[in-house]
Amino acid sequence: MLILGIESSCDETGIALYDTERGLLAYALHSQIEMHSEYGGVVPELASRDHIRRALPLIQKVLNDAKLALSDIDGIAYTQGPGLSGALLVGTCIAESLAFTLNVPTIGVHHLEGHLLAPLLEENPPQFPFVALLVSGGHTQLMKVTGVGEYELLGDTLDDAAGEAFDKTAKLLGLAYPGGPAVSKLAIQGSKGRFKLPRPMLNSGDLNFSFSGLKTAVLTLANQNESDLQTKADIAYEFQEAVTEILTTKCMSALRQTGLDNLIVSGGVGANKRLREQLNFATKRKLCHVHYPRLEFCTDNGAMIAFAGAMRLKALEGSQPSHSFTVRPRWDLAELQKPQ
Ligand code: KG4
Ligand code: ZN
Repeated sequence: MLILGIESSCDETGIALYDTERGLLAYALHSQIEMHSEYGGVVPELASRDHIRRALPLIQKVLNDAKLALSDIDGIAYTQGPGLSGALLVGTCIAESLAFTLNVPTIGVHHLEGHLLAPLLEENPPQFPFVALLVSGGHTQLMKVTGVGEYELLGDTLDDAAGEAFDKTAKLLGLAYPGGPAVSKLAIQGSKGRFKLPRPMLNSGDLNFSFSGLKTAVLTLANQNESDLQTKADIAYEFQEAVTEILTTKCMSALRQTGLDNLIVSGGVGANKRLREQLNFATKRKLCHVHYPRLEFCTDNGAMIAFAGAMRLKALEGSQPSHSFTVRPRWDLAELQKPQ
């Protein structure tokens, strides 16, 4: 089954072709980061307009790269939510109208399920069940994953997401959007031991997180010190240490509590080098395994949507395509069920 995947929930137009027999055949992405950077964040209306411009040429590109035609497509998966409603509507309308003309089924994919399953696109994927750490701009969650659509929430952030904390810290330090890569780049020049930030909820005994206090502590540090580059680098260093230590400790607790030995990490913050270093070290010590998507599939992309859609469309094979649709800008992952 050849699935076309379309991601347009925020500031990236991601398109991919995934074949249930042959794997990932082609993928392409247009990032709007440059366009939004002058505003310091995503401007929803500009995002929607840009998705309109990019989606069809990118679909043509992946078809050319895979030497396939529109008529080879057996199903279309698109991000139905959560995300920006205008941006979601662009991908949804394109997916549904193409599918209508091709007479193939569609599947509306939950964006976070896409992130969650992205590590399974890599070689030697883990078998279910496993623990998943989902760390993106909007979410910081630990889950027990028993199968597609079988997600048990083990822990969640009580306030800001880890990616959001990176983004806000970047803003406080006068760095560019998006903050995660900018903070971690600056942290390389930072020195250990000059500053000490708190590790909120590190020993809370549960698997929940809290990052808003850390942001306030960064603000206090920034106000109390000179704003020279070395000081900013030292703050960035310590901030990254605090976040990655908290995430690593909670992941290890989740493995211990569930008795599982496989961890997967997904979402934008999963691209963070220091986090990967810490998780690699901690899991190795406990004879556990950690799996990541390749760096470019940590952040938003079409491959994860094509893959998650393929998993669900396989279960629906043979049913009559229906092309009524709606987007779900707010959509709780806990509402998902096993494909029937
Ligand atoms: O998964 P994603 O692309 O979008 C959401 O679904 O939210 O994640 C974006 C988030 C942003 O907050 C960004 O700052 C963060 O991931 N991020 C990083 C890194 N790369 C992206 N955070 C820390 N280190 C990175 N290298
Ligand atoms: Zn995302």
